[in-house]
Amino acid sequence: MPAPGFDLSGRLALVTGSSRGLGWGFAQALAEAGASVILHGRDAAALEARARSLAERGTPAAGTLRFDVTDGPAVAKAFAQLREAHGRLDILVNNAGTTVRKPVLETTDDDWQRVIDADLTACFRLSREALRLMVPQRRGRIIMISSIMGHLARPTIPAYIAAKTGLHGLVRALAVEFAKHGITVNAIAPGYFPTEANQPVRDDPTLNDWVVSSTPMGRWGEPAELGGAVVFLAGEASSYVTGTVITVDGGFTASL
Ligand SMILES: NC(=O)c1ccc[n+]([C@@H]2O[C@H](COP(=O)([O-])OP(=O)(O)OC[C@H]3O[C@@H](n4cnc5c(N)ncnc54)[C@H](OP(=O)(O)O)[C@@H]3O)[C@@H](O)[C@H]2O)c1
Repeated sequence: MPAPGFDLSGRLALVTGSSRGLGWGFAQALAEAGASVILHGRDAAALEARARSLAERGTPAAGTLRFDVTDGPAVAKAFAQLREAHGRLDILVNNAGTTVRKPVLETTDDDWQRVIDADLTACFRLSREALRLMVPQRRGRIIMISSIMGHLARPTIPAYIAAKTGLHGLVRALAVEFAKHGITVNAIAPGYFPTEANQPVRDDPTLNDWVVSSTPMGRWGEPAELGGAVVFLAGEASSYVTGTVITVDGGFTASL
C-alpha cells in the first residue's frame, strides 16, 4: 500500500510518450501508486505491448491514445475522446519530447521548429486541454518533463535548451493562474537516463565518459529512480507545491 499522500487510487492520469523510455517509467510508477493510466504514443504495437504489460502486473491501463502531440486538431480530437470516455482527468504528465543534435550553424529553421513544437508548444496545448477538464473538478496535477538543460547548456542542442528553459516559464505561468482552482503545475528535470533518445550519447565513448564523470554519483540514472518524484507531484503529498522544478540528476547540477 502506498503511504498516505502518495496513494493515487481513483485518480486518472495521462502520460504522453509512455510507449517507451522515461514515459513508460512514469506510467508504471503512477500505476503502482494506484492511478489508472492512459498510455500514449504514436506506435500502436508498442502501446498494445505496454498495455498488456500493465495488465499482467495487475494494474491495467485505463486506455491508450495515439496522436502526434504537435498536431493541434489531433490533440483536440484525442481530448474529446478522453472526455467522452472518462469525463475527467486528474493528472497530466507532459513527457513526450524530441531533440535534434546539430551545431547552431547547421540547425535549420525546420530543426528548430520541430523541437520547439514537440517540447514546448505541445506542452502548452495539452495543458490547456487538461485544464479545461480540471478547472470544473477544482483539482488537478500537471507535471512537465523538462531536463537539466532547462537550467544548463551544452553545445549542439540549441532548440532543446530553449524549449526546456521555456517550459520552466510555462510551469510558473500556469501555476500562478490555476492555483486558485486547486491545480498544481510543476516540472521534473531529469539528468541523464538511458533511453532510445540518448543512445547516440551512450554510443560515443567520449560523451558517455563525460556524463559519468560529470555526475557526482558516477553513473547514469535508472528510469525507475524518477518514479518517486512523479508520484510525489501527482499526489496529495505535494498539495502546497506549485510552480517549481524538481531536479533528479545524481548531483549533476550541484557540481562544477
Ligand atoms: N532520457 C533522458 O536522459 C532525459 C533527460 C532529460 C529529459 N528527458 C525528457 O524526457 C522525455 C522523454 O524522453 P525519453 O528519453 O524517454 O525519449 P524517448 O525514449 O525518445 O521516448 C519519447 C517518447 O515520446 C513520444 N513522442 C515523441 N515525439 C512525439 C510526438 N510528436 N507525438 C507523440 N509522441 C511523441 C515517443 O512516442 P513514439 O513511440 O510515437 O515515437 C516516445 O514514447 C522527453 O521530454 C525528454 O526531453 C529525457
